Amino acid sequence: MADLSVELFGVKFETPVWTASGTFGFGIEYEKYTDLNQIGAVCVKGLSIKPKEGNPPPRIWETPCGMLNSIGLQNPGVHYFIEKILPELKKYKIKVIANIYGTNYEEYRAVAEATKGVEGIHAVEVNISCPNVKKGGLAFGTDPVEAAKITEIVKTATDKPVIVKLSPNVTDIVEIAKAVEKAGADAVSAINTLMGMAIDIKTKKPRLKNVIGGLSGPAIKPVALRMVYQIAKATSIPVIGIGGITTWEDAVEFIIAGASAVQVGTANFLSPDAAVQIARGIKKYLAENGYNNIEEIKGSILIP
Ligand code: FUM
Repeated sequence: MADLSVELFGVKFETPVWTASGTFGFGIEYEKYTDLNQIGAVCVKGLSIKPKEGNPPPRIWETPCGMLNSIGLQNPGVHYFIEKILPELKKYKIKVIANIYGTNYEEYRAVAEATKGVEGIHAVEVNISCPNVKKGGLAFGTDPVEAAKITEIVKTATDKPVIVKLSPNVTDIVEIAKAVEKAGADAVSAINTLMGMAIDIKTKKPRLKNVIGGLSGPAIKPVALRMVYQIAKATSIPVIGIGGITTWEDAVEFIIAGASAVQVGTANFLSPDAAVQIARGIKKYLAENGYNNIEEIKGSILIP
């Protein structure tokens, strides 16, 4: 039997298949629809220091092989999450990754500080890549100096391992990955959504009230895979692959490209059990091909 567990930055995850921030609520909403104990980790919806209403609707639009969103980081705030939601999640084996967001250095520091010493939060994922907010988010993720600065701030403010979630909306994602690695990131996750838009040709209005949103889903998988491959080659911290992963075969591709774990995002909207099914498929693939664990295939791409 292959062992699916992975140990990254000192944390043991039951499986390398996690759910991506913004696509699986806080995890607990799904307890009736899937087995949370069979999911490696939930990256919760981006948390800010104060509650946030997000952007006005419409803020979701389905596209061929994907989805545009401009939610605007709606969330109840980090303190509400810790006091009211986290105790429910702690009933399960699923590891909890707090995705955090701020509009400036002080907010990133404050929200990171709020996670310090909190039992049941296993890592922090720093969102410097949301394309849907006017301040913060992407503004920090497109500049290596700013990305490094936020990483240092969060590393100093929390005692949790720090994963930095990178944006694909840059010329050279490797440059940003190297900058956050140098600044002390324990891992990077890649990629967040690609900026996109859609127009209603009858009304000539944009489909999203915010006009521009973030594209996710199978349409972005080849871009994400390429970026994960490039980052894994150029850095020595774990890379968590995200971007259109829908089947176990997709996940295996990311691992062969160099990912240490993967996050399932848009696929959760089609099947809330997707992460469990994908983990099952990887386990079968490992066993059928004589591998004991995912370490044996990680980064095993053969370039002719
Ligand atoms: O708009 C949103 O809440 C999306 C967040 C993200 O892509 O990080």
